[in-house]
Formats: sequence, structure tokens, C-alpha cells
Amino acid sequence: MPIPFLASLYFNGYPPWMPEPYRLLKYATAFSAVTLTKWYSSGRHNPAERNMHGRVVLITGGTSGIGAVAAYELARRGAQVVLLTRTPPSDSYVVEYVEDLRARTGNHMVYAEQVDLADLHSVRRFATRWIDNAPPRRLDMIVLCAATMVPPGGRRVETAEGVEVTWMVNFLANFHLLGILSPAIRAQPFDRDVRIVVATCSSYISSPRLDDPLKGADWTPQKAYAQSKLALMVFAKAYQKHLDAYKRPDELPMNAKVVLVDPGYARTPGTRRWLTRGSLWGLLVYLIFYFFSWLLLKSPYMASQSLLYAMMDGSVVRRPGGRLIKECMDVDCARKDVDDEEVAKKLWESSDQLIERVEKQQALKRAKEKREEKRREEEAKRAAQVEEIDSLIGAIKKGKAKENQKKGAKKGKAAGNNAK
Ligand SMILES: NC(=O)c1ccc[n+]([C@@H]2O[C@H](COP(=O)([O-])OP(=O)(O)OC[C@H]3O[C@@H](n4cnc5c(N)ncnc54)[C@H](OP(=O)(O)O)[C@@H]3O)[C@@H](O)[C@H]2O)c1
Repeated sequence: MPIPFLASLYFNGYPPWMPEPYRLLKYATAFSAVTLTKWYSSGRHNPAERNMHGRVVLITGGTSGIGAVAAYELARRGAQVVLLTRTPPSDSYVVEYVEDLRARTGNHMVYAEQVDLADLHSVRRFATRWIDNAPPRRLDMIVLCAATMVPPGGRRVETAEGVEVTWMVNFLANFHLLGILSPAIRAQPFDRDVRIVVATCSSYISSPRLDDPLKGADWTPQKAYAQSKLALMVFAKAYQKHLDAYKRPDELPMNAKVVLVDPGYARTPGTRRWLTRGSLWGLLVYLIFYFFSWLLLKSPYMASQSLLYAMMDGSVVRRPGGRLIKECMDVDCARKDVDDEEVAKKLWESSDQLIERVEKQQALKRAKEKREEKRREEEAKRAAQVEEIDSLIGAIKKGKAKENQKKGAKKGKAAGNNAK
């Protein structure tokens, strides 16, 4: 078939239905350029594999985007996955999500626990409950994948506790969570492969310095996001040192490893919200130009590959912690301050102070609210008692009035009889 076709091309020239050669070349070049760009922007596949049966994994951000793929892949491999969700496990969305994940993976060891990362008290409630367990609960991995981002042009928003929301969700909540869970990590047996996998973003490179807090007009969503990621990286590295410095009672070395992962830019709900600025017009533009986001951004599945590599690659446990992984390989941090101990010390101290201050304020607020509630309850009780007494007095008075009436009537009758 190709030989007669080529012969006909040679002797008779191009048939009328066939594009001219230069046009064919143009199509072929465009197709190759798109294929190559797509191949390059999709990134590498995770080469590591591992049986996760019996391993207990806590994961934040497991309900959306890259974290959702990671949670699915962990559950599929048999891990016991505890999704730390913003809403309580009884929330109908969470119930359905967990049931769906169980059904799709055939793994019934998938649970949800409420940890609202925008609320220090919620983080403390979960983490203290976890460490209060005796004997210490098994814990193989903590995956920190949750993050938030104010769309471009958006205003600075504070949580109910008064902390800027990007700083709170992306950094401070993780700092608080790992701080409280530290004894649970250190209590794991020496030979357990414990990993703390932290999702970061290359935007940290353009972040303002950490000793340059964003104030007033300086604050932009991009700078806030980048700075929160830089802080997370500085803390992750310092946390590894904190774990390494721990002297185990059995005198064996600490094996827990912190791994930073840059998943690369992906078409996740978070990115979509950011690109569309959370508006319907933005969504329309996004849909019209969807081809470009498809071409240049990774799918959530491809973006999760480096995360899965950090969770499953055997070399992680054998090599020093605090490494940064991108495209399933080690890369250097692009900023010196990520490894600066002085910067880390200041960040650690200021975060501790902020948490202490906010928690004290909130504890006082809660105590005041509790007192108010108690006072309202007592007032309501007293009012009910007064009402009861009033109605009792009313009833007695009514009874007496009736009795007097009867007596009066009797007296009247007797007087009438006497008169007769
Ligand atoms: N997507 C990218 O292009 C990209 C690039 C570089 C790095 N990363 C990093 O990769 C990670 C995942 O990104 P993504 O785009 O997949 O995220 P995403 O789709 O925006 O999902 C964010 C997740 O965080 C959770 N979350 C947000 N606020 C929370 C709160 N207050 N309490 C508890 N959970 C909360 C969300 O829970 P709900 O489902 O309840 O909202 C959701 O599960 C992030 O750390 C991000 O910084 C992403």
C-alpha cells in the first residue's frame, strides 16, 4: 500500500486532497512543539514503589488537588489514611468523600478528623488528643499538603483569631501541629521509617525576607503566599535539626526525616481559583484559554509524583533529612536564608510567642463566653423560677378568691334565710 502511494506521488505529483509539503511540515512542527511542551511541563513520573499496608498517615489538604491524589495513592497501597479536614467528620461532604475514597481504593482504613488550619485551637484540640493516647499511637507519616491563597487583587483577611489567613494556614498551623505532635514522632520505635512530607512552592524564591513583615500597602496575595512558603521551608529544616538533636531513651539515633517537596505548577482547584480570581468572568476566560493551562500546567496526578516519591523512595530514610525534592530528584534550595540558623531561630521564637499570645487571648475569650453563657443560663433559670412562683401565687390567690366568693355566697344565703 505505501509503495503504490509513494510511486503515484513520484509520477503524478500530490493528489488534490493532500496539503502541500510546506503546510504538512508546518502542521508536523506545531504538533511536535505541542507534544514536547506538554511532555516537558508534565514533569517526571515517580520511579519509587512501596507497600504501604499498616502505615499510619496523617494528611492535610487530602480533599483537593495534589493532596487528594496523594491520599488516594496512599489508600490504594493499603495505608491507614487520616484526612485532617477543615470541617468535622460528620459533615455530609466529608462523610461522602471518605466513603467514596474507601470504595475506590477498597481500603476501609480511611478516616477523617477535624483540623481547621485557620484555627490554632482546632489544631491543638486534635494534636493533644493524638499525643494523649497511651500507649503512643503508631505514626509513620505526616503529609502537609493544605494551603490557601488569596486571589490576586484580593484584600488581606484575618482568621477569627486575628492572624493573617495565608500565614496561618500555610505556615503557623503546620508549625503548631508539628510542635505538639513532636513527642508522638519521637516516641516511634527506632526502626520505624517516619517521614514528614511538606509541600512547598517555588514562589518562595521571590519572597520578601522573613524579618521584613508585610504591612499595609506592602501586603499582596503573592508576597503573602511566597513568604508563608519560605517560612514553612525554614521551619521544616529547623524541625529536622530539632528531631536530630533528640536523645532517645534507648540511645539509638532518631530516624524521622523531613522532606520538602515542590510539586510544580498544576491545574488544581487552588490554581483555578487563583487564575480566575474567584469570579465568573475569570472562569469564562479560563475556559476559553483552557488549552494553555492544559499545555503548561501539570495535572494533579503528575504534580503528586514528587510527593509520592518523597513518601515511598527508600533513599529518604537513609540520607539526611531536610532535602528539597522536585521532579522526583534532589534539588538545591535557591535561597541561602532557608538554611540560616539565625533566621530559623527568630522565626521559631516569634511564632511561639504569637501562638502563646493568641491562645491566651482566645482562652480568656472562651472563658468569658462560658461565664456569659452560665450567667444567661442562671438568669433564665431564675426567671423560670420567678415565673413558677408567680403562677403559684396567682393560683393560690385565685383559689382564695374563689373560697371568699363561696364564703360570701354562703353568708349571703344564710343572711337571706335568717331574714326569712
Ligand atoms: N497547585 C499548584 O500549582 C502548586 C504549585 C506549587 C506548590 N503547590 C502546593 O501544593 C499543595 C497542594 O496544592 P493544591 O493546589 O493541590 O491545593 P488546593 O487544590 O487549593 O487544595 C488545598 C487544600 O487545603 C485545604 N485547606 C485549605 N484551607 C484549610 C483550612 N483552613 N483547614 C484545613 N484544610 C484547609 C483544602 O481543604 P478544603 O477542601 O476544605 O478546601 C484543600 O484540601 C499546597 O501546599 C500548595 O502550596 C501547589
